Amino acid sequence: MSTASARPRRTRPAAAPWRRRTLESAAAWAGAAVLLLTAGPAAAQDAERGARLFNATRSETGRPVGNCVACHASREALTEMIRNRGSQPAAAGSVERLLQRAIDGAQPGALGAKAQYRGVLTPVDVRDLAAYLARSARS
Ligand code: HEC
Repeated sequence: MSTASARPRRTRPAAAPWRRRTLESAAAWAGAAVLLLTAGPAAAQDAERGARLFNATRSETGRPVGNCVACHASREALTEMIRNRGSQPAAAGSVERLLQRAIDGAQPGALGAKAQYRGVLTPVDVRDLAAYLARSARS
């Protein structure tokens, strides 16, 4: 009687953790695949939205801020300034960090011009702008 009940108890715990791990990693891979699939189209549109933000910051954000293009003339005109600040104009991530620092006020001199965007431009806006600015430096 005692041997009959002990047998199933010994085999079941051995199988269960293996199955659970398999299901967990399958779910993780499925999640990663979804992320990869959605990242492509989203990244392709960043620069286009960044162009709208650069040329029509006010209407694109719906807030009373200056348009980037009013002071910077063109994104090409910004390339040298970005390089002079020690950032890489062709690398969107580098431009993004510089711009975010300028907006946050950590970049001496640009404080007055960029503080108006604090609380207006979201991190996604800044990323889109950086994608647009970096694209011109590459071409
Ligand atoms: C009112 C004029 C004005 C507007 C509007 C403006 N900028 Fe600037 N920006 C400046 C000035 C002036 C500097 C240079 C600051 C300095 O030399 O200290 C600068 C510098 C920068 C820099 C170099 C980093 C830095 O901190 O020096 C970047 C990048 C930049 N601007 C991007 C933008 C973007 C993107 C927008 C729109 C969201 C924008 N600017 C709107 C005046 C402006």
